Amino acid sequence: MRFKSLVKDLRILGGESLLKGKFVVVGGERLSGKVRVNGAKNSALPIMAATLLAEGKSTILSIPNLKDVTVFMEVLESLGAAVKREGHKLEVDATNLNACEVPSDFARKFRASNLVMGPLLARLREVRSSYPGGCAIGSRPMDLHLKGLASLGSSVKERGGFVHTSTDGLRGSDIHMDFPSVGATENIMLAATLAEGETIIRNAAREPEIVDLQNFLNSMGAKVKGAGTGTVGIKGVKKLHGAEHEIIPDRIETATLMIASAITGGDVCIENAIPEHVEPVIAKLTEMGVDVLVDNDSIRVMADQVLGGVNIKTLPYPGFPTDVQPQMVALLSTAKGTSLVTETIFENRFKHTAELRRMGADITVEGRTAVIKGMPKLSGAFVEATDLRAGIALILAGLAAEDMTVVENAGHIDRGYENIAEKLKALGAKIIRIEN
Ligand code: UD1
Repeated sequence: MRFKSLVKDLRILGGESLLKGKFVVVGGERLSGKVRVNGAKNSALPIMAATLLAEGKSTILSIPNLKDVTVFMEVLESLGAAVKREGHKLEVDATNLNACEVPSDFARKFRASNLVMGPLLARLREVRSSYPGGCAIGSRPMDLHLKGLASLGSSVKERGGFVHTSTDGLRGSDIHMDFPSVGATENIMLAATLAEGETIIRNAAREPEIVDLQNFLNSMGAKVKGAGTGTVGIKGVKKLHGAEHEIIPDRIETATLMIASAITGGDVCIENAIPEHVEPVIAKLTEMGVDVLVDNDSIRVMADQVLGGVNIKTLPYPGFPTDVQPQMVALLSTAKGTSLVTETIFENRFKHTAELRRMGADITVEGRTAVIKGMPKLSGAFVEATDLRAGIALILAGLAAEDMTVVENAGHIDRGYENIAEKLKALGAKIIRIEN
């Protein structure tokens, strides 16, 4: 009742426009019940890119209904693929793939669109794209992708913020990656499936999404092995056919819901989860004093005591995921004691700390480490989602804070969480998403 009247008052105070495109959360509710995890965004995108390799129709099941997926569908369509979505089922037929240029709008704003480079090069022998964010060749964040594609026998030319890659036929190669980049591993795997001969990717990323991609590629007729280890081997084949595949559950959504339970002192059972994929998160929550019960495909998270601080360092899989770092920082802001969180994957991934400070959190950032002194209570505030995971971290903080939190830029959160307000509401949270 109080929640509804608060939202009504705010609407009256600021007019409707004040709340448009925002999440409104009133904290203090203990979450309980069961919640189901959707298919993984970070599997869906490379698998959608893989559909471009086939002459024929592929059907992808458990596709999450997210803004990133919708944008990627538009990218595939712009390249000549026929794309159809019905609920959580997606069909892609790239038989008539005819464009080798990634439209600039997508390439610049949407980093994952670079995943179509490998398939386009393999099928059409040419690809043109802008750099994400206009980044120069040789530097981050495309150098590992381009080095890999070049080793497969393509020439890479850069001019005016564009990259042009072409080949007279891809050839297998032995590639050692300087860093286990997820996207670069996927791009090289995609291109190598149709290359002549064998490719070996050493120091490959080991994320579960790479394994999911391997499984889909093999069901299309590819010969890929080793995904999930540091060495992936691909024997090139002449052609790939369409296939049906179900996307794995989203481990980042799983971890986010686990933290939602912990931060509210709740008791939530997270279903359609793969516990092995969130082991580092389970380990840290347990160290903090959270009770975590693991079953085959569900995880129950109970927090009925004051939680203690812990130290965390983000690392490539199977280390602690960078995509769960902001949510953990929100949780640690409410835990007892001091925690150190070190971000080693991305240079500038602490923007949420400034917003959390507006909610009363005591966080200082020194270089790549955030020093968090836990506070007994956070307080509601107007805060801004600066990116997807920063945004969800603020919602989590809002669930635990006194009074009302308004998270601006809800669109960032829509990129990676399907119906998150409804899911949290069903667990007892007071939250609504005001449409744009
Ligand atoms: C993927 C995930 C993203 C996650 C990240 C790390 C998708 C769609 N996105 O992103 O959610 O946060 O893995 O787990 O799956 N780098 C280079 N050169 C390159 C490529 C990357 O220097 O050519 C750097 C990046 O700037 C970054 C680090 O390597 O600092 C990790 O990037 P990468 O593993 O490639 O992440 P993404 O595939 O972009």
